[in-house]
Amino acid sequence: MDLKEYLANRAAEVDAALDAFLPKAKEKPATIHAAMRYSLFAGGKRLRPILCLAAAEACGGDFESAMPPACAVEILHTYSLVHDDLPCMDDDDLRRGRPTCHKVYGEGMAVLTGDALLTEAFLILAQTSPAPRYPTASYVAELALTGGSTKLIGGQVMDLEGEGKKLTKAQLVKIHESKTAALLATSIRLGAMTANATDKQLEALTIFGRALGLAFQVIDDILDVTASTEVLGKTAGKDLAVEKATYPAILGLEKSRKEAAKLTKEAMDALLSFGKKAQRLREIADYLLKREY
Ligand code: IPE
Ligand code: IPE
Ligand code: MG
Ligand code: MG
Ligand code: MG
Repeated sequence: MDLKEYLANRAAEVDAALDAFLPKAKEKPATIHAAMRYSLFAGGKRLRPILCLAAAEACGGDFESAMPPACAVEILHTYSLVHDDLPCMDDDDLRRGRPTCHKVYGEGMAVLTGDALLTEAFLILAQTSPAPRYPTASYVAELALTGGSTKLIGGQVMDLEGEGKKLTKAQLVKIHESKTAALLATSIRLGAMTANATDKQLEALTIFGRALGLAFQVIDDILDVTASTEVLGKTAGKDLAVEKATYPAILGLEKSRKEAAKLTKEAMDALLSFGKKAQRLREIADYLLKREY
């Protein structure tokens, strides 16, 4: 199976699992369930759940056991996007090629949609079967830490506070690590944990995930400058307009591209001990470096 087919198959499996886990659109109060589904099934790349499944595969596990955490990370990610787009945050009208949640359902409902998605993520994660080394509570603690005030939320705080300021590269790395790389690394770790990964495997995958996650946000920053709104499915050129602290703003496009390539190489190097089993993870890393949206 080539990578394109693999990604499409995994995404379809994740979509089916998400559909089964989530309350039906008509369940009362219907507005919130329709809004949750609106944002979740708007056609994201499903990168985090696919990485979760591929990490389970790399550690000799199966997709079925990794599906609850895979869905949980995608749902938590979607909540972060719904709130990230709010007028009081990045103020975006377009997401995943559609009007943003607050544009369709109003601001109050979009805040609640984010809250409901975040909570739903943990309800699903709590259904993960324990592995010999990992009790179910360890998955819950892992995602709670990553979604919390020292990681994802902390990164969003620094991102907002960084607007209009000339930050150092070290400060920028800290933002990107927290708001984006932490969740990518955790997606990978959770998948590996369902496969009962050893400490050594988990350590290597954490290094892989952090470097891949950083590269991913560097490329997101680059695409905001170089790609079109149509291709991205979200409004291009927004970061410059509000003077966000981004890689292109601080290093320029050329150096940002080199940085993304360097980080991807760092990620690949962390997978050496896995041999062929990590082939999909390597292919995904390479694909993400070259992505155009
Ligand atoms: C966008 O993430 C937000 C960032 C952390 C850069 P994705 O580019 O993975 O968005 P979707 O899920 O495909 O819509
Ligand atoms: C989003 O970063 C990070 C989180 C949602 C945690 P961005 O603000 O760069 O993401 P986009 O560009 O709006 O997708
Ligand atoms: Mg943002
Ligand atoms: Mg944004
Ligand atoms: Mg962005």
